[in-house]
Amino acid sequence: MSRFVVKGGKKLFGEIEVQGAKNSALPILSAAVLTRGENIFYNCPRLTDVDACLRILRYLGCDAKVQNGAVLINSDGLCESEIPDSLMREMRSSIVFLGAILARTGCAKLSFPGGCELGPRPIDLHLKALRKMGAKISERHGSLVCKAENGLKGARIDLSFPSVGATENIILAAVLAEGTTTIINAAREPEICDLCEYLNSAGAKIYGFGEGEIVIDGVEELYAVSHNIIPDRIVAATLMSAAAVTKGEVTLRGVIRNHLSSVIPVFEETGCRIRVNEGDLSISAPERLRAMPLVRTMPYPGFPTDAQAPLMAAACVCEGTSVFVENIFENRFKHVGELSRLGADINVQGKVAVVNGVKTLYGAPVEAQDLRGAASLITAALAAEGTTEIGGIEYLERGYEDFEIALGSLGADVRKI
Ligand code: UD1
Repeated sequence: MSRFVVKGGKKLFGEIEVQGAKNSALPILSAAVLTRGENIFYNCPRLTDVDACLRILRYLGCDAKVQNGAVLINSDGLCESEIPDSLMREMRSSIVFLGAILARTGCAKLSFPGGCELGPRPIDLHLKALRKMGAKISERHGSLVCKAENGLKGARIDLSFPSVGATENIILAAVLAEGTTTIINAAREPEICDLCEYLNSAGAKIYGFGEGEIVIDGVEELYAVSHNIIPDRIVAATLMSAAAVTKGEVTLRGVIRNHLSSVIPVFEETGCRIRVNEGDLSISAPERLRAMPLVRTMPYPGFPTDAQAPLMAAACVCEGTSVFVENIFENRFKHVGELSRLGADINVQGKVAVVNGVKTLYGAPVEAQDLRGAASLITAALAAEGTTEIGGIEYLERGYEDFEIALGSLGADVRKI
């Protein structure tokens, strides 16, 4: 188990390239199951979740490797339709393989993802949609057996909530299905659009992504292509928080401004100056941040739940009171107790966290309990006086590529031990 040792108080300064998006990479790599030939994926982040995804692909019989920084996947040899429990547990988002394996082989067997560190993680919307497309699904002893012996059929799917994972699974199931599938109240996240761009370049016919209604005309076959994964907007938001708490001046290279349109105004409200020039976003922080406006997490294009924890670290040292409302996940304030150990003043009631800004945070030993919580603790540690030792770095490594090196290149004093 590795830990980070952070000596706080160093201003972050300089330029940094933003890594590829984890939440794009995972569904796109699983989508490669649907194609013939060798896909090449550029800008795929090097993360433990991506490694787990590649292990699942290899288990299924695909050729999956990393070569010269690109990920190569050829699914011609796919011969399995079951993911063993041990591999499912390695990556919570492995449920995204369900639609792809079912569409490719006509059956899929995997264990139920169950709960996770963010609270219960139901997949009822995924299963309801696949059933509507003709899949027979039985849930027994924690495992799911899905069959579509006569193939999947296009259907109209009304989602009661724009679930990202359910939208992805439906798209993956629908691209090779017979007929047309319409998803009403589909998720609109940029990662959904990236998945659709990849599939369309591989020969799929998907329309309307990025809007609430996605239409998919099933096709006979998909062919391998090369694809560039979009930059990670959550890593960008985390680096912006790190720059803000350290009163720094940082330029992020390779961002897509529109993906950050709900995040940028929050930083501007704190007094940070933000300039965007094509793919470069520069943030310059004031001596003391002002409190943030009400931050309410929402489905895209609203404020992303994944950026809530890293931003809260910045709110801890703002002048005044900031309020966060977490509307997406039930259990997403686990970082609060640990931030308090650093001297933060935060009160949580249900889905609301009230953060009374303090002048100084102080280094202390803390323990991350989830991915974005880990990013939040590191961000706070950068601002704290003294040394903070952060455990639970395995969570961080699911989503942030060589984060200690990235922060170090901007002048932070972070060591991995
Ligand atoms: C994805 C992201 C995650 C992000 C989340 C919300 C990936 C790998 N993960 O997760 O980082 O925080 O979107 O932007 O892309 N729900 C149900 N039934 C379902 C499905 C979801 O009730 O069948 C609920 C969930 O419990 C949760 C909410 O819907 O409260 C949002 O979940 P969803 O959008 O599906 O998130 P994920 O795809 O799991």
